[in-house]
Amino acid sequence: MKILVTGGAGFIGSAFVRLVMAETGWEVVNLDKLTYAGNLENLAEVESSGRYRFVQGDIADQAAVGALVAETKPDAIVHFAAESHVDRSIISPEPVIQTNLLGTFRLLEAARLNNVPRFVHVSTDEVYGSLPAPEEATEKFPLQPSSPYSASKAGSDMLALSYFVTFRMPVVVTRASNNYGPYQFPEKLIPLMIANALEDRPLPVYGDGMQIRDWLYVDDHCRGILAVLDKGRAGEIYNIGGNRSLPNLDVIHKLLALAGKPESLIQYVKDRPGHDRRYALSSEKILRETGWRPKVDFETGLARTIDWYRANAPWVARVRSGEYRNYYERNYANRV
Ligand code: NAD
Ligand code: DAU
Repeated sequence: MKILVTGGAGFIGSAFVRLVMAETGWEVVNLDKLTYAGNLENLAEVESSGRYRFVQGDIADQAAVGALVAETKPDAIVHFAAESHVDRSIISPEPVIQTNLLGTFRLLEAARLNNVPRFVHVSTDEVYGSLPAPEEATEKFPLQPSSPYSASKAGSDMLALSYFVTFRMPVVVTRASNNYGPYQFPEKLIPLMIANALEDRPLPVYGDGMQIRDWLYVDDHCRGILAVLDKGRAGEIYNIGGNRSLPNLDVIHKLLALAGKPESLIQYVKDRPGHDRRYALSSEKILRETGWRPKVDFETGLARTIDWYRANAPWVARVRSGEYRNYYERNYANRV
């Protein structure tokens, strides 16, 4: 089995590549542009394997994608590459549209023209928008995206599914809830709060901090994608939730307690525009059809994640230099 992974140098993609390399005998080709979020350090443990190959390239580059898919003839494409951060999509939507919509289109076309037998499009629960409690989105829920990021993911989901309906291409879409774990770029809630807390810097809480997210440990997500790659039915959507919904402030209180840092680090700041109040997913379908369920409970996963960030301060320092500082200034300076 040979798979082409896109975005394999990012947070979830690199966890997926490490997992596949460790637990299968498959060949992996990793296509990644290495944007600010892509980091080959995340793949140090697999880079010398003869079963692994890295290719730097843009999924929106038609010629490069077409040539790579034709040359590698993968048995499956697992598509992670995206501009993945909501705040960045608000500050600068252009690359989001370019990569998430046009890039997905280019990949789908290359897969279609080369008859790739399997295409897993990795998407998000954000496409369902904010849901009132106690509702949980099933795969049949209407799409109500709020940000340029979630709208671009919803659009790319629809495009991917249209390739099944129109061309009978064996596409499967996954929609996961909020991931956390090692190697996550410290722009997202959990790694940002851990990185700031470990350096005794303020923790910027948007609005009242009572927004609800469902937390999924990254390795659980990757095992869910493997289950769908193996058993998912073509043309279907599979939700992958963590089954652990918490208000942001609860997450932050837990994190501060585990890190041994004071609550006085919490700083309430101006809210995110269009901020979704609550995400909630039903993962009943993936459980029923593949047997997958999340295994890592939130407290264990969070403690493991904090330990990783503590032990990997040089990784954090490197990714927080340069571009990150400009972003941090742009996103947070006017919020206080
Ligand atoms: P990430 O930002 O950590 O990584 C994205 C990767 O894609 C990086 O390695 C980057 O270099 C690469 N990339 C970006 N643009 C590219 C392009 N044009 N061509 C090739 N490579 C490109 O993202 P992540 O958090 O690992 O998310 C991975 C996928 O999972 C995304 O599709 C995202 O929408 C989805 N997802 C994320 C979460 C989450 O909580 N992080 C939850 C559900 C779904
Ligand atoms: O739900 C899945 C999605 O989860 C993925 O599709 C996205 O790629 C991923 O970025 C994530 O989106 P969110 O917007 O939910 O994640 P983020 O970590 O940016 O924010 C989580 C919550 O924390 C949200 O309510 C906003 C809040 N927040 C975030 C940051 C970065 C803060 O209060 N302060 C912050 O500084």
